[in-house]
Amino acid sequence: MRMRKKLVAGNWKMHGSLAENAVLLAALKPALVGVNAVVCVPFPYLAQAQTILNGSSIAWGAQNLSEHNKGAFTGEVSASMLLDFGCSYVIVGHSERRSLYGESDGLVAAKYVAAQAAGLTPILCVGESLDERESGVTEAVVARQLDAVIKLAGVDSFAGAIVAYEPVWAIGTGKTASPEQAQAVHAFIRGKIAALDPDLAGQLIIQYGGSVKAANAAELMAQPDIDGGLIGGASLVADEFVAICQAAAK
Ligand code: PGA
Repeated sequence: MRMRKKLVAGNWKMHGSLAENAVLLAALKPALVGVNAVVCVPFPYLAQAQTILNGSSIAWGAQNLSEHNKGAFTGEVSASMLLDFGCSYVIVGHSERRSLYGESDGLVAAKYVAAQAAGLTPILCVGESLDERESGVTEAVVARQLDAVIKLAGVDSFAGAIVAYEPVWAIGTGKTASPEQAQAVHAFIRGKIAALDPDLAGQLIIQYGGSVKAANAAELMAQPDIDGGLIGGASLVADEFVAICQAAAK
């Protein structure tokens, strides 16, 4: 019996405006009553998300944070600042942060620790590139990314975290991992945590991300180890995001 409640998170990336967000959130709010969903918005729009979503069943969060609490770190945003705007979640180690902004496994682990220390739930992204998949090292890459966090924060920290498996080759490309490909990696992730703590592994929410849309959500969400999704492009289209959330809620 599944004991995990699926969770769908929208990753807006660097999209939106006050006007566009108001329209999107106004459409999502009534459509997602009673559904477990999160929107991770750009920093400047956290206050707007808080104002519009407060009291609704949609939570909000950020897409990145600093590993530091405060100090001379120009341009950075700390976990406590996210808390000031009512965030519950923060994406950590998205592949775009890793590849475009040089975030190492160690830095991602430090950010994960900073998020949890403040009481935020990190959504820890892991996943392999196309080269890595084609050279057969998918599991080794995902294991390395998880091990950095386990080493710094301990396996117990996963009790307060979400893992998102996002194969880099499937992000924003329209190429979704097949349900079987995704399920295989999700089972690997759960098995890796289970080897250290079986109970915790059974509770861990593992989201799939990479070109999820309304049309493919149901078959992905039907996989035994897929517990929701991290949705980029489709999270900007109200009908798409609602349909994905509904597929996950079934
Ligand atoms: P996508 O992005 O749904 O547009 O592929 C997913 C993500 O990067 O989180």
